[in-house]
Amino acid sequence: MTLRRRSGAGGTPPTTRSSSTPGSGGARAIGGVAAEVTDYSIATPIVTGTARWFRDSADLVAFREGGGRRRRRRHSFEYARYGNPTVEVLEDKISAMEKAEATIVTSSGMNAIVATLLAVVPPGGHTTFVDLDDMEALQSVLDQGNVTMFYADSLTNPHLKCVDVRRVAELCHQRGALVCIDSTLASPINQKPLTLGADVVLHSHHQVIGAGWETPWVTDFTTGMGVGFLNWHPNAAYMIIRGLKTMALRVEAQNRTALRVARLLERHPKVERVNYPWLESSPWHGVARKQMTGAGGVISFEVASDMRGAMRFVDALELPFIATSLGGCESLVQQPAIMGKSEAEKTENGIKDNLVRFSFGIEKFEDLKDDILQALEKI
Ligand SMILES: Cc1ncc(COP(=O)(O)O)c(C=O)c1O
Repeated sequence: MTLRRRSGAGGTPPTTRSSSTPGSGGARAIGGVAAEVTDYSIATPIVTGTARWFRDSADLVAFREGGGRRRRRRHSFEYARYGNPTVEVLEDKISAMEKAEATIVTSSGMNAIVATLLAVVPPGGHTTFVDLDDMEALQSVLDQGNVTMFYADSLTNPHLKCVDVRRVAELCHQRGALVCIDSTLASPINQKPLTLGADVVLHSHHQVIGAGWETPWVTDFTTGMGVGFLNWHPNAAYMIIRGLKTMALRVEAQNRTALRVARLLERHPKVERVNYPWLESSPWHGVARKQMTGAGGVISFEVASDMRGAMRFVDALELPFIATSLGGCESLVQQPAIMGKSEAEKTENGIKDNLVRFSFGIEKFEDLKDDILQALEKI
């Protein structure tokens, strides 16, 4: 979870030197204390251990209160509950990419969502749902005067709708409400919600950022005191840092493939409707073009058939794996209607039986195209 920089803070985040490499998305961003502790190594060292020692009592006092002529405080990761150098490197990189004041890396996307809600919603708080494109409905909820936070995915899953973050932030801030955007499907390469006015941005980091399903969710239970559930394991942070190095390349490939496949499907007689905001026909096209630089690797579409026909299509595909998740190197396909959604959830979210979702990887477009075209014939 990443927080907006306070106005007036200016420049780069305090401990971060941003990359000058175009398109690197801040993958080289590292600086300050974390860089020192990790010994300026290009491959970020995995620094383990929960406790750090002090040379003597004066060293401890310098850490607590400041020492030397300038009474400067010495930095230490004293105890793992307060932080870890490898995790801090990752947090600095994400802050640089999102142009944020600070980032907290947690064990999973749901963990970040719950932590954010627990932090800002007062006891007795409740949820009111509004349509993402109904600004009048949002205004009237805000006018009731008790909104703490607006929360939405943008892009949404699985319909790829897009929140007009600038407009929403304007309305919410007039009423003192915070804006939190889950930007997982967009990735920090395609969208930076904080620069559009959002206050908090969330990612499920093992997806696009960390290259998909190779990163474990690891919570270090040895730091289970206090806010310990937010602390993360340096091994897992290291794997996400590795994923970050190729994120810009992966996302560029995924943007390209998703758009080409969306265009192909839009013209195909066995497809009724395609959801992808980079298509001119999408109702979200205008907003997406204003605030994103690409629409990411996820598309969804309704085949011209029923649930069984959609299943025949999915089963005939040879390249993508049938799996949930998104953002990695391998393409995945799923039929949301049969992927763990209750009937109530399906109705509430407008998920039709014939809806199929692709998350594209980095395979060649021509291979994916041939596979999709042959599978459409099997419907
Ligand atoms: C957009 C989005 N946000 C949050 C989450 C939850 O993240 P996690 O699965 O890491 O808990 C997911 C999971 O698929 C997601 O797709």
